[in-house]
Amino acid sequence: MSARARLFPVGAALASVALLLIVLLPADAPRAQQPRLTGFTAPAITDTAALPGPRQPVFYRHDVHAGQYQMDCRYCHFAAEVSQHPGLPTLSTCMGCHLLAGAQLPEVQKVREAFGAGQAIEWIKVHDLPQFVQFPHMRHVKANIACQDCHGPIETMPQVYQYSSLKMGWCLDCHEQRNASTDCTVCHY
Ligand code: HEC
Ligand code: HEC
Ligand code: HEC
Ligand code: HEC
Ligand code: HEC
Repeated sequence: MSARARLFPVGAALASVALLLIVLLPADAPRAQQPRLTGFTAPAITDTAALPGPRQPVFYRHDVHAGQYQMDCRYCHFAAEVSQHPGLPTLSTCMGCHLLAGAQLPEVQKVREAFGAGQAIEWIKVHDLPQFVQFPHMRHVKANIACQDCHGPIETMPQVYQYSSLKMGWCLDCHEQRNASTDCTVCHY
């Protein structure tokens, strides 16, 4: 088991507790984080065929969770600040809410059934740099580059698609602008 895999259950459990408090506390109780009321409502979608990005085994929606419900990206991708790879949440992170929330929805039922059967959901990778490139996520997040600068407006996407080209020129343009290294060996071993 990798260090990353071992960290997940603990982090996810802590995050679930914190988030449940935010969701369940009455409106006048002290909160760790006030929800930002942008009034964004995720649209109802009946035809998923036209959506950009790979079709996922469960129709998990960033526009519902990160948009309408204002969930922080790091609640699910909490390794982004400390690891090469931010990673995806485990189902126990989802079940913190989906023991109750949306239990009647067919796509939520898939999540509950997989969790009950002890199975993971095999998400299709959206971003995939070639093996010969190294991209340390945490260095970028710590340099205060917003997730959206590279990934686009994820909080309005019903299905995630690759927003930036991820080509070498894209990396180099920003490195030049921000005085980061453009030395070949920094990105290529
Ligand atoms: C409730 C949990 C949750 C929250 C909150 C969340 N995500 Fe995700 N994210 C997921 C899951 C599950 C996937 C895998 C399925 C998919 O691609 O839609 C994913 C996939 C992604 C991917 C694509 C990964 C790949 O395969 O390349 C990106 C990029 C991403 N999220 C960024 C964000 C950003 C940015 C935010 C905040 C605006 C955010 N996420 C908030 C759960 C979450
Ligand atoms: C903080 C609570 C919370 C967490 C954590 C959470 N969800 Fe949700 N999710 C919701 C709420 C609230 C809804 C809307 C339910 C409704 O419309 O009745 C929802 C809706 C959904 C839907 C239905 C979308 C639709 O409109 O059909 C799916 C599928 C889903 N979530 C999957 C997931 C997955 C997978 C995870 C873990 C990666 C996750 N959720 C984590 C609160 C959460
Ligand atoms: C400087 C650009 C940049 C920023 C900022 C950035 N990402 Fe990424 N992200 C990428 C690239 C490039 C990849 C593809 C990495 C690969 O394939 O090795 C990626 C991959 C991912 C993945 C895929 C899963 C994985 O482990 O590879 C997730 C999830 C993700 N990013 C979430 C986030 C979140 C959340 C934030 C903000 C906290 C964020 N990213 C900030 C460029 C960025
Ligand atoms: C939006 C701007 C931006 C984009 C796009 C971007 N980077 Fe960076 N990158 C930075 C900044 C700023 C730093 C310096 C961070 C620091 O000082 O720790 C950095 C640092 C790095 C480092 C560490 C450099 C060192 O000196 O050790 C690597 C490796 C890296 N980036 C790879 C990439 C790759 C590969 C891509 C494209 C897939 C990419 N970056 C895209 C802004 C960006
Ligand atoms: C900031 C990160 C970064 C730096 C610095 C960088 N590269 Fe790259 N390079 C990439 C990425 C990302 C790719 C993969 C995407 C692509 O092919 O554009 C790549 C791809 C390549 C490829 C394969 C192209 C292909 O068509 O398959 C070669 C060869 C290459 N780089 C050489 C270099 C050389 C030589 C330098 C130094 C002058 C350099 N790179 C500096 C990020 C970087």
